[in-house]
Amino acid sequence: MTTDSKTSAIGALIAQRISRRMVLGGVVTATAFAGTSSLSWRGAYAQGASSLAFEELARGLDTDFHVARAHTAQVLIRWGDPVYPDAPAFDPAGQTAAAQERQFGFNNDFVAFMPLPPFSKKSNAGLLCVNHEFTNARMMFPGLTLAMQAKLEGVVGVTAQALFGQMPDLTREQVDIEMAAHGHSVVEIRFQKGEWKVITDSPFNRRLSMLSTPMRLSGPAAGHARLKTSADPEGATVIGTLNNCAGGVTPWGTVLIAEENFNFYFSGDPSASSEADNHARYGVTGEARFQWARFHERFNLEKEPNEPNRFGWVVELDPYNSRAVPVKRTALGRFKHEAATTAVAPDGRVVVYSGDDERFQHVYRYVSNGRFDAKNRQANLTLLDDGVLSVARFEADGRLVWMPLVWGAGPLTQENGFGSQADVLIETRRAAELLGATKMDRPEDIETNPVNGRVYLVLTNNDKRKDAQTDAANPRANNAFGHILELAPPVVRGQTSDHAADEFRWDIFLLAGDPSDVNAGARYHPQTSKDGWLTTPDNIAFDSRGRMWIATDGANDNGFADGIWATDVEGPGRALTRHFLDVPRGAEMCGPCFTPDDATLFVAVQHPGQEAGSTFDAPSTRWPDFDDTMPPRPAVVAITAKGKTIVG
Ligand code: FEO
Ligand code: CA
Ligand code: CA
Ligand code: CA
Repeated sequence: MTTDSKTSAIGALIAQRISRRMVLGGVVTATAFAGTSSLSWRGAYAQGASSLAFEELARGLDTDFHVARAHTAQVLIRWGDPVYPDAPAFDPAGQTAAAQERQFGFNNDFVAFMPLPPFSKKSNAGLLCVNHEFTNARMMFPGLTLAMQAKLEGVVGVTAQALFGQMPDLTREQVDIEMAAHGHSVVEIRFQKGEWKVITDSPFNRRLSMLSTPMRLSGPAAGHARLKTSADPEGATVIGTLNNCAGGVTPWGTVLIAEENFNFYFSGDPSASSEADNHARYGVTGEARFQWARFHERFNLEKEPNEPNRFGWVVELDPYNSRAVPVKRTALGRFKHEAATTAVAPDGRVVVYSGDDERFQHVYRYVSNGRFDAKNRQANLTLLDDGVLSVARFEADGRLVWMPLVWGAGPLTQENGFGSQADVLIETRRAAELLGATKMDRPEDIETNPVNGRVYLVLTNNDKRKDAQTDAANPRANNAFGHILELAPPVVRGQTSDHAADEFRWDIFLLAGDPSDVNAGARYHPQTSKDGWLTTPDNIAFDSRGRMWIATDGANDNGFADGIWATDVEGPGRALTRHFLDVPRGAEMCGPCFTPDDATLFVAVQHPGQEAGSTFDAPSTRWPDFDDTMPPRPAVVAITAKGKTIVG
């Protein structure tokens, strides 16, 4: 289609949105958006300056990590670094699964800082809890990529499948290394003499691995026939957690880690199984990006058709008890969970927000039936087993309606193949679609703002959306750059956000892309600089002042590095994004996480050097070691400000 017709399609949506806003404007201002200028599509960003004073970083793309002037970046822990005192020194050319199980895993994503002593607000000691989302054999093992490289040479716009596929056969040991490099790490860290140190012999340290860590299934789907396998006839215990992307932290000091793209691990023809339709809906096609089924039968769909149903959950981990069995909380639904962010409603019920990161998938909210009790941690440990999961419908008039996914209600009945709440949870996507949930542009992170009580939903992109499929909350066809929505729970008693309410208001916070490109349809604060705009937002974090720090994944497609952009969400600097940090080429930016005092920002550099033609033997960067014997290594970096008490 032409640019003009695209522009006018957006224009029509804008007009629709503005006119409804005018009708409802008084209501909006009086409740959800009280105290700030309501963001509408034209001219609502106030003139003025950002509260973020750092000097913006220039946009670029190279082999190194860069942070705004007057800040220090310390590489804290890398793939292969010890998690236990007996971990062997990292030897990338001679890696073993046994070594990997004692070392920091691959592709760090979500980062949580859990203070020590437990449940304190301390910022100079704590547990760093880090997801290891996935592995890429091409970047991990020497000598196996020459044939593959020849196939890829000169390929432009190479797909993810091409990056992961065309792999020579891996050995059993290599497959086991991959499985051991998945999961999660807990390491104690302390700030001493001006820098962070990993305490390798801490009793809290722990690796969760796909090879060896048992996890318990709990909630309504636990023990259901569809979760039973030959290795687990009770449907109660799963070894490992897969593709943990982002996550969250609960008010009772546990960590939630979200199983995302679990579909890429299963091989074989699923069509003979009664689970075939269910698997198809989650992309479990048997075309795996991994070779695990060659050595581990549970990843063979013809042998174990129920195994994929044991992934796609949110896992709760108690980092303060290194012997605690992690728990897969089925009440939160099964989908490609990007994150799991907790809030407490005014009546004490606990809310968990989570998005399903795939094009045209949905946004969910769980509300517990029980109430958070700050004095009874043990009781809080079952809050995520009993509650109501809902899915979001975004109305063009600015209402956000949460629709409960409850067995027996509406279409979620036997006639539609749901025999119990377990079926509704195992097939969350199908249940949500039957209720008419809004199909979003890839829901990535969703976070609550600690200052204004609103919820921010990051939609990273959707290049498959056609003009006829646009809606008010996903207003751009071929959305290459992504956007961020602002969700406003009703405010009760004048100040507290009711995260458990049936209806919220919503609005657009920003539309990413280059604001100087009229075809992009981007929208920010008008003073956003040439380095200040961003693309493909993914993970976000708020500092204690409520400012948003946005990590991106996909900027290399536009010729510049992924990194972090920061913005105020209120006042004259609202949606005035400013460029703070860049990661090396091939990497995406994950994790952002502040210490409670905002003095340190932890960020996770994921898959440095992962790009077409780049391999272990000939990588496009050797960050962070820049040593010819070392491949690029995913690593967590600690950012502090020189001579200042807070980052930014
Ligand atoms: Fe693992 Fe949705 O990023
Ligand atoms: Ca992500
Ligand atoms: Ca986050
Ligand atoms: Ca990502």
